[in-house]
Amino acid sequence: MTETTPVTESADTQLSIGFSMSEEKAVAPPPFLELSGVSKSFGEGAARSEVLSEIDLSVREGEFLAIVGFSGSGKTTLINLIAGLVEADEGTIELDGKPIAGPGPDRGVVFQSYALLPWLTVMENVQLAVDSVFRNASKADREARARSYVEMVGLGAAHWKYPRELSGGMRQRVSVARGLAMDPKILLLDEPLSALDALTRATLQTEIEQIWAADKKTVVLITNDVDEAILLADRIIPLRPGPRASLGPIFDVPLERPRDRTAVNDDPHFRKIRNEITHYLMAVSRQAARASSRSRVRKPDVKPLDLRPRSLPSAR
Ligand SMILES: Nc1ncnc2c1ncn2[C@@H]1O[C@H](COP(=O)(O)OP(=O)(O)OP(=O)(O)O)[C@@H](O)[C@H]1O
Ligand SMILES: [Mg+2]
Repeated sequence: MTETTPVTESADTQLSIGFSMSEEKAVAPPPFLELSGVSKSFGEGAARSEVLSEIDLSVREGEFLAIVGFSGSGKTTLINLIAGLVEADEGTIELDGKPIAGPGPDRGVVFQSYALLPWLTVMENVQLAVDSVFRNASKADREARARSYVEMVGLGAAHWKYPRELSGGMRQRVSVARGLAMDPKILLLDEPLSALDALTRATLQTEIEQIWAADKKTVVLITNDVDEAILLADRIIPLRPGPRASLGPIFDVPLERPRDRTAVNDDPHFRKIRNEITHYLMAVSRQAARASSRSRVRKPDVKPLDLRPRSLPSAR
C-alpha cells in the first residue's frame, strides 16, 4: 500500500513535498541486501572528505531498486561498498544474511568505467567472467554462454576486437554482457547505459528488464535518468547531494509491467511519479547549494591599497 505524505525538513529550509512512501508490511520477508548506518570518508586530516553518511537501505530479494542522484554525490562509492571493493568506516552491509567481506561472484557489477581487460578481446573479456563462475560447466557450454551475451548486447560482429578498438558505448555493452553472463545473485549496475545512444539504451533497458523478470534477480541500478528509473524500477530512492550524502525518501513505482516507453509522456501515473521525484531532487539541490554558500570561507575584511600616483604639489 502506498500513501502520499508531505516531507518537512529543517525549519530554515521548509522543504515540503508530496511523495509515495512505502509502508512496512505486517509480515515483511527479511531483506536480501541490508545496509545499516553505513558511512564512508576518504582522505585524512584537512583533506578528509565525508562522502556517505548514515546510509540505511533494505532491498528485497527479486526487487529492482533504482538510486538516482547528482554527479559526485557518492553513487559509485555506494556500489563499491556493496561490491566489497571499498570498506565502510562505520555500519554494516549484509547480503543474504552474511556480512560482505570483499568482492564475490554473488555480486555482478557493471562498472561505470567499464573496467575491461585491455589485452583481451570482447569475447575473451566476457568468457573470463563466465569461466570464473561456471567452473564445472563444459568448455562448449561456457563458450556458448559467453557468445550469447556478447550477441545480446549487439557485439557479435565485433567479438574479436580489443577494448581500444571499441567506442565508449561498445565498451559499456561489453561490461553489461560480462555482468549479466556471470548470473550473480544480485546485479549492481553503476550507470550502465549512460554512454549509449537512445536506441541502444532503450534496447538494453528492455534486455535488463527481461533478464531481471526471467531470472528473478535482485538489481540495484544507479542512474541519473529519472525516466530510466521509472521504466525499470519497483522503487526509486534518491541519494541527496554530498558531502555526507544520505538517502532520501522511497518512491514506489506501482506501474504495470512490461512498461510501455512510448506512453511515458502521456501516462498520468508516470508523469506524477516523474514530477514528484524531479521536484524532490530540485529541492534538495537548492538546499545543498544554500548550505554550501553559507559554509564558504569568509573573505578577509581588508581595504584595497590606493596605488594611484599622488598628485604632485603644483609649482608656483
Ligand atoms: N578512492 C577515492 N579517494 C578519494 N576520494 C574519492 C575516492 N572515491 C571517490 N571519492 C570522492 O567521493 C565523492 C563521490 O564520488 P563517487 O564516484 O562515488 O560519485 P558519483 O555519485 O558516482 O559521481 P558520478 O555521478 O560523477 O559518477 C567525490 O567527491 C570523489 O572525489
Ligand atoms: Mg559514479
